Amino acid sequence: MNTVTLIDNRTGKKYDFDILSSTLGPDVIDVRKLYTSIGMFTYDPGFTSTASCSSTITYIDGDKGELRYRGYDITDLATKKSYLDVCYLLLNEKLPTKTQLTAFDNELRKRSFIHEGLKGLFNAFPDRAHPMAMMSSAVSALSTFYYEHLNVANKEEALVMAHRIIAKIPTLAAFTYRRSLGIPYIYPDIERSFTENFLYMMRAYPGENLEIRDVEIRALDTIFTLHADHEQNASTSTVRSVASTGAHPYAAISAGINALWGRAHGGANESVIAQLEIIADVKNVDAFIARAKDSNDEFRLMGFGHRVYKNFDPRAIILKKLLDSLKDELGIDDNLLKVARRIEEIALNDPYFIERKLYPNIDFYTGLILTALKIPKSMFTIIFVIGRSVGWITQWIELQNDTEMKITRPRQRYIGEKNKIL
Ligand code: ACO
Repeated sequence: MNTVTLIDNRTGKKYDFDILSSTLGPDVIDVRKLYTSIGMFTYDPGFTSTASCSSTITYIDGDKGELRYRGYDITDLATKKSYLDVCYLLLNEKLPTKTQLTAFDNELRKRSFIHEGLKGLFNAFPDRAHPMAMMSSAVSALSTFYYEHLNVANKEEALVMAHRIIAKIPTLAAFTYRRSLGIPYIYPDIERSFTENFLYMMRAYPGENLEIRDVEIRALDTIFTLHADHEQNASTSTVRSVASTGAHPYAAISAGINALWGRAHGGANESVIAQLEIIADVKNVDAFIARAKDSNDEFRLMGFGHRVYKNFDPRAIILKKLLDSLKDELGIDDNLLKVARRIEEIALNDPYFIERKLYPNIDFYTGLILTALKIPKSMFTIIFVIGRSVGWITQWIELQNDTEMKITRPRQRYIGEKNKIL
């Protein structure tokens, strides 16, 4: 076993720590015995240098702009496979055969219905409730209908739970939208595939045999694929953290939804379009870029920058190509597109953005496509939830089988008052 040696300059004492190898990416220093051997903690706010677990699901190389699910490159998956192929891959560690895919698709169709009682929950929300707030409540409420999933005994039971949640989340998502408008809920149509069904439940009126265009299904399916997993990001770490306490899996996913809602994470896609609408015209772009660069101004260019990607976000590249190829067919808002392109052009050539390695991230482009799909801004992060649900549940399953799993319990550097006397 290779080791690294840490020398305490105060005492001259040396301590060896094992290096654990990774199949891709940096190896890790095993510091689990650090506190018991040295009596000190590591200090790493935001976990910029900390691997919180071992995982076989997703690999990211932020410098190369590489993203892989179960070893497969994201560009290959997004351009040659469907979102359901990707779900199957994440859950089963291999791509499905045609027969397996059909069986998986059929099972999800059958499991997409929700308990009638859940309608009461939606009806109780105020008219102006944000869809993300309704979504996290509804997923948490699912635990009251499927309490038996608190104890999942084996892989088969875990997969039933996973299929259930992946299938029901689009239905709940469409219900949040319809509730916010006060229009009748539309039940899933068993004749329609996963992505088509979601658009149908969003748009149709009762009894209407609404046709959804292939180009729209393809675009949204790609967005779901690109969101399917992203290793230990804030929402996934939240899911794992809550799951580590033995809480109900639906409660863990509900917590992940809440973590995703924030503007620095999944909430960014909503802010990107809001910002483009405020900028409104290419002639205003320079002024906003100047604000983004001003250290005295809290304004940030939404959809730019990423904690891990320091070269480019491969998901953004795929979406940019998709946007370019489908913009006429989809009917992308030309004015917003011009503003976005101007921002991109300036930022990619400006030393402020270059030095800080700030590139467009996935959220910079999703909003433009989602707007063309007639999905309102308030639903953008919900789209992220639908795509990411498979990642969260796959990470949850991995955690259950991790023999090194422990309850998440970081320590701290205490810098408060000491020995105060009453
Ligand atoms: N616009 C302007 N300046 C920025 C931006 C931005 N979007 N992002 C980072 N910076 C600057 C910071 O001000 C900082 O500058 P300084 O070194 O002069 O102080 C430097 O770049 C580093 O920024 P940090 O906040 O330290 O970087 P971190 O890795 O912690 O944050 C984050 C990454 C949260 C994504 C950040 O870039 C950001 O807020 N971006 C906008 C929000 C966004 O698009 N989020 C979506 C991320 S993708 C996703 O979750 C799916």
